[in-house]
Amino acid sequence: MDRLDVTEIFEGISFPGHLHTLESLQFAISFPFQDQDILIVSYPKSGTTWVQEMVTLICSRGDPSLTQSVPNWARAPWLEHYYCASVLGAFKLTPVILHYSRRIIYVSRNPKDVVVSFYHFHKMANFLPEAETFEEFLKKFLMGTLSYGSWFDHVKGWTCQTATLENLLHLTYEEMSLDLHGAIKKVSSFLQHPLLEEEVNNCVQHCSFSSMKNNNMVNYTLVSDHIMDHSKGCFMRKGKTGDWKNLFTEEQNHYFNDFFKSNMQDYKRQVKIAT
Ligand code: A3P
Repeated sequence: MDRLDVTEIFEGISFPGHLHTLESLQFAISFPFQDQDILIVSYPKSGTTWVQEMVTLICSRGDPSLTQSVPNWARAPWLEHYYCASVLGAFKLTPVILHYSRRIIYVSRNPKDVVVSFYHFHKMANFLPEAETFEEFLKKFLMGTLSYGSWFDHVKGWTCQTATLENLLHLTYEEMSLDLHGAIKKVSSFLQHPLLEEEVNNCVQHCSFSSMKNNNMVNYTLVSDHIMDHSKGCFMRKGKTGDWKNLFTEEQNHYFNDFFKSNMQDYKRQVKIAT
């Protein structure tokens, strides 16, 4: 069945029906986690794929064999996608991964860059509603009515209530951009998997933007044009911080800043947005 144009509403949030069913969403929220699991959690376009690559490389001590031979959705499946149950059944986790206790890596990104990246992604992803003008898209993003819900609820929900959890690491796209080497060391130490300097350097090399853009196992070019129209854009688009400045008008920026300020008033933790 072609579910590209179907939307599933689950707990008030809309999800593309191409990848999600009510059963798969239910599967995700009632997933029986085990101590060895590593969870990567994010709002779309925050650097999820980057962290999937980083964690896979850390687990393989910088050896890219796995990242270059198995698609990212098979080695780090999205729990809420309909194919997850079968992937988890089929994919044999390496003994290295099995040594870890359960860890959560929450990744966030400047919401202005998130909305711009998401806007471009809507143009190529046929399973998402057609992108309208950026003005309209931005309003929906702020109102939390795009697929996957509100960025604000996501960030606050995951970082406020979990601020004291020792098994949660909050990583930002910006810190990975600024110091990828440092971010890899931080994640490897969080996963209690210290690496030799040479191994960290190998991870840096293989999860750089250019390596990932050229790796078919992670750049989504294996996905058919019917699902992602590669003539309309690349998943590995720019990989930069501050790209919002190329799309936001001054007025949109003011509106965003005001909205952000009033919606993050109760947020005690620091989220930096460039103004
Ligand atoms: P842009 O559209 O701004 O380029 P997600 O995986 O959460 O959907 O996020 C996708 C965004 O992360 C895209 O942003 C993509 O280019 C960027 N990205 C993926 N891998 C990256 C890397 N190695 N370095 C920098 N950015 C990366």
